[in-house]
Amino acid sequence: MKFLKTITLPILSTLILQGCGGVPEEKSETAGMENVFSVEEVLEMVAKENDVTRTLYTKAIVGKGKAQGMKFDEDWRKDDVEAGPLPALFLRGVATSIRKGPVPLGLYLGSDFPVNAANKFEGRQAELFKEIKVDQKPKFFYDEGQKLHTAMFADLASAGACVTCHNSHPQTTKSDWKLGDVMGATTWQYPKDSLTYKETVAVLNSYAKGTVDIYLEYLDEIEAFKESEKPEIGIKWPEEGNFLPTAEVFLDSVKKLSSYETMKHLVAAK
Ligand code: HEC
Repeated sequence: MKFLKTITLPILSTLILQGCGGVPEEKSETAGMENVFSVEEVLEMVAKENDVTRTLYTKAIVGKGKAQGMKFDEDWRKDDVEAGPLPALFLRGVATSIRKGPVPLGLYLGSDFPVNAANKFEGRQAELFKEIKVDQKPKFFYDEGQKLHTAMFADLASAGACVTCHNSHPQTTKSDWKLGDVMGATTWQYPKDSLTYKETVAVLNSYAKGTVDIYLEYLDEIEAFKESEKPEIGIKWPEEGNFLPTAEVFLDSVKKLSSYETMKHLVAAK
């Protein structure tokens, strides 16, 4: 346990930094209104942000929080339930926030063996997911019906909490998930085939805003918890006790761990 505590985040950040190799370099000479990124590149960037956010939330908040006695539940929004959002519901919260905003970015988390039947892949996405399970590579296609460019990225069982919770869930359709398995995929959609710098930054910002929105909703729920159960909200993390980071502290960690460097390049080149 002690080992895990000290090693998890450094490993995570190393992996993420290595993962940044494929992100496009800034092209300052083309700043302005020109489309400088393909939709594939942009969806890949935002998917990377999502990987970091999702892993951080699952490990540092849900995993460590549970060890402190904090609860995470499907019915976390109900008044009589004192719990936070499950990772999948955190992601759906991000998706909902994005949908309410001006950026036409779609986000969906699906699987072939879902806990929630509504999350089962269908049609082309189901076919491509079969390939993802084998090669773990992103898949891109144009959805003619919806007129949307679509990208799918493997969603891996990156924490013990993913596996134990899914295997033992009363509605589970598969109870032998293992660490490292492809448990599902995030599907991202966008209407245009290429984006300007401005549009690219807007996509990344809408994702970051979504994270803050759902995290703030969680902190709001906590306000109504019994005094004795309320975690202290500040700069500390559940790893240290009955604490939760503020939305700023949480987002700051995401930025440190993610390809935030890319984002800074983008902004600087505008
Ligand atoms: C504490 C329980 C819990 C943990 C931890 C958890 N999940 Fe889930 N997960 C759920 C539940 C419940 C749903 C269904 C939510 C819904 O859509 O109603 C779900 C949904 C999903 C889905 C969409 C398909 C489906 O099963 O409905 C995927 C993919 C998924 N989780 C993967 C993961 C991964 C990967 C992790 C770890 C990073 C993780 N989950 C952690 C409970 C959990």
